[in-house]
Amino acid sequence: MNLRQAPYPKTRHRRLRKSPEIRGLSRENKLSVEDLIWPIFVCEGKNLEVPVESMPGVFRYSVDLLVEKAKLAADLGIPAICIFPYTDPKLKTKDCAEAWNPENLSNKATRAIKKAVPNIAVMTDVALDPYSIDGHDGFVENGRIVNDKTVEALVKQALSQAKAGADIIGPSDMMDGRISAIRTALETEGFHDVILLSYAAKYASGFYGPFRDAVGASGALKGDKSTYQMDPANGEEALRTIARDLDEGADMIMIKPGMPYLDICRRAKDMFGAPTFAYQVSGEYSMLQAAIKNGWLNGNKVIMESLYCFKRAGCDGILTYFAPIAAKELNN
Ligand code: PBG
Repeated sequence: MNLRQAPYPKTRHRRLRKSPEIRGLSRENKLSVEDLIWPIFVCEGKNLEVPVESMPGVFRYSVDLLVEKAKLAADLGIPAICIFPYTDPKLKTKDCAEAWNPENLSNKATRAIKKAVPNIAVMTDVALDPYSIDGHDGFVENGRIVNDKTVEALVKQALSQAKAGADIIGPSDMMDGRISAIRTALETEGFHDVILLSYAAKYASGFYGPFRDAVGASGALKGDKSTYQMDPANGEEALRTIARDLDEGADMIMIKPGMPYLDICRRAKDMFGAPTFAYQVSGEYSMLQAAIKNGWLNGNKVIMESLYCFKRAGCDGILTYFAPIAAKELNN
């Protein structure tokens, strides 16, 4: 960049800040409802709305209420919701077979939403952790998370989600080679239009804690995920995993968590120019909500500011639990 500006007083930066109209005219980044993906938790049962304690304002909904929420989201103009199932502990096994059961909760939810609210895109999560007795995203053998066998299972899981009608599939497992394997299987089975939004740079983060409560995985997890998720100290490696996933057939890429990794968002967008998403994860949500609930921060102001930072960092969109609140604010 070649910055040019006359010395003061010929340049006065305050000229472009003098009114809402002028600020709007010169605003560099726009945030729109179209940029938002709403992650939402689903549970078995009927007419259930169970609060997630570590995420004030977030609930697990039974499928009937989930459909209502999907309608509300569509009415607000939110283009996509991302489903995460709370799996009955009795269904968690060593072989994770529930993950590709056509009748599992995630697939039931997908079908119900696609039937009742066809104009919202459904995104699903590919990883074994909701179904694993060990709480890991892959199979555990002799205390190690095995890669290639896990990829075979992820392919089955992804195909069952595509058959249920998922528009966007989000592999969040961080195994090597899964994008290529899933893409090949989708093409072979005729799912030419299913989008792969790869969790390409997903860090072994402490900010996922409340999410694991929400999906009931906290109790199951033995050890941590640092042999497959990325080291928070690494930046160059993220560029290599993103490049790899794009080469393997990802349509869009994600950086996760969001706010602590804005440098990665900017570098990824600059380097690849691909559709780039950030996931403002559960811990980021809870951190802000805790301060908002205490009256220490002004909710609407910090929520919108926290979303603008992603646009400034080059992201096309954001997965955020604040999606409905932000959508209402943006529609005002
Ligand atoms: C599971 C998955 C996780 C999240 C999304 N998919 C948790 C994890 O990797 O342990 C985290 C989302 C959040 O914290 O909001 N593969």
